[in-house]
Amino acid sequence: MRSVPLFVLVAACVEPSSGTGSASAESSSSATSQGADEAGSSGASSGGSTAGTDTGGADTSSASSGSSSGDCEVDTDRGSICTSQQMWTDGDQASTLMRPGAPCIDCHADAGGAPLFAVAGTVYPTLHEPTDCYGAAGDVVVRITGSDGATIDLPVGSSGNFFASTSAGIVFPIRADVLFEDRVRAMCGWQSNGDCNLCHTEEGANGAPGRIRLP
Ligand code: HEC
Ligand code: HEC
Repeated sequence: MRSVPLFVLVAACVEPSSGTGSASAESSSSATSQGADEAGSSGASSGGSTAGTDTGGADTSSASSGSSSGDCEVDTDRGSICTSQQMWTDGDQASTLMRPGAPCIDCHADAGGAPLFAVAGTVYPTLHEPTDCYGAAGDVVVRITGSDGATIDLPVGSSGNFFASTSAGIVFPIRADVLFEDRVRAMCGWQSNGDCNLCHTEEGANGAPGRIRLP
């Protein structure tokens, strides 16, 4: 756990560099001066019940393709638990709480009628938690910074999920901060994919250390 003041973390993260996009490096550091103000968050209410037809398995492709990440430290501890001790058991039933930890956008792209998200994912209390385990609840906010410098704060629902519509105007590549209480955990790398759980799997894929977790 890091408890470095916000401005230090942000200062390490101003340069769009990570190799994924053909992104312009135009993002100005003025976009990074915001404080860790608490935006509101809300528990989303679930609908539905039944249907234990969960077929989507956890992404087991763990990889650590040494991505250079500047000043970001990567935690390598292992040992997976479902901290909340609560599992999503309603399969692919439509809900804001659905399939915590699974790659939302990847599935929604193929699922007729599912909302189209620019950014979506799940925040967890710890680094290694299984798919469909409920994540972190409480006043958690995921702040997305677009390469145009604009930020958008996404509330985290009661299963840990957060999401933003494709109509939210987010300009890729993006970087992200998780805000909780007065702490922040930053992703320094600029990503051109908003499907956070594709990389932030139980074990971590594409260089990510594991789940998106609370600061
Ligand atoms: C394996 C497929 C799959 C995954 C993974 C998945 N979804 Fe869905 N999602 C669906 C389908 C199918 C629908 C409903 C489409 C419909 O209503 O016809 C849906 C609908 C939704 C809705 C609309 C809810 C409503 O009340 O209409 C939200 C919000 C949503 N998903 C969020 C998420 C989030 C956030 C994630 C990732 C944490 C996620 N989904 C992961 C398949 C998936
Ligand atoms: C293409 C893969 C990929 C995607 C997609 C991705 N990340 Fe990351 N993430 C990484 C990598 C690699 C790191 C470690 C290096 C760094 O911090 O940039 C990381 C680190 C992080 C960290 C810090 C991890 C820690 O334990 O300190 C947070 C927080 C984070 N990401 C949030 C997000 C959010 C939110 C999204 C979705 C908007 C997202 N990530 C999408 C690859 C990805």
